[in-house]
Amino acid sequence: MKRSVPDLMNAQEPLVMVTAYDYPGARHAEAAGVDLILVGDSLGNVVLGYDSTAPVTLDDMIHHARAVRRGAPETFLVVDLPFGTYHTGVTDAMRNAVRVIQQTGADAVKLEGATPEVLEVVGVLTRNGIPVMGHVGLLPQTATAQGGLKVQGKDEASARRTVEGALALEAAGAFSVVLEAIPARLARLITGRLHVPTIGIGAGVHCQGQVLVYHDLLGLYEGEEKKLAKRYAELGREAREAIAAYAREVRAREFPTQDQSFVMKDDVLGKLY
Ligand code: KIV
Ligand code: NA
Repeated sequence: MKRSVPDLMNAQEPLVMVTAYDYPGARHAEAAGVDLILVGDSLGNVVLGYDSTAPVTLDDMIHHARAVRRGAPETFLVVDLPFGTYHTGVTDAMRNAVRVIQQTGADAVKLEGATPEVLEVVGVLTRNGIPVMGHVGLLPQTATAQGGLKVQGKDEASARRTVEGALALEAAGAFSVVLEAIPARLARLITGRLHVPTIGIGAGVHCQGQVLVYHDLLGLYEGEEKKLAKRYAELGREAREAIAAYAREVRAREFPTQDQSFVMKDDVLGKLY
């Protein structure tokens, strides 16, 4: 059963969110029974091969979110508003959020930060019936301005900014707030102060829920594990090994075998010549 916004807001149990970017990923997530699926703009990094989320466009997000919705019709779906699509005024933000909702069938949008401009957008969207998930701490869309992909909230000024940002997002109408890459104790403090659920990534065990990026969770990339993620599988290695096995068999003429080949009646070939 698909969760509703009030149901998620009042959840007492831990909330499970995972990202998805396409039909098969969405099918896996829905079949596994997650509470929420996020079409993250991490799309830019893990699917499109950019080195940041900044180049991701609204059309990119819509294209992928439509596929995700087809794969997960019964799961609460959140779609990231990408960089630049809610920074040029509330009218543009509203228009872009409406496009996402109408064209993808998403249940909510997510945006980053808690500047006065972003808070105004959160207010307008929620007052017009578009549920908004907030996001504080590390903000990948503006990581350059934050000095790179760094843990936030470690010193007093940054910790205060993070707490106040989360509180302000709730006050503006956000139904939930993602806490990314902040100390676990700070995330616990924020989770205790907010009425709406916090969803953590690299924010410790005391958040109401957790989110992981599909590719990180499944180990779709070989190489070093990210500090904030846990790999529950090594699908990247499995994929490489499977493709290498296929290549070996093709080169040895061991694939295809009779099993993958089609037959015809003996006399037909004779009639051809
Ligand atoms: O884009 C994304 O995947 C995200 C999550 C990490 C929260 O925003
Ligand atoms: Na994102």
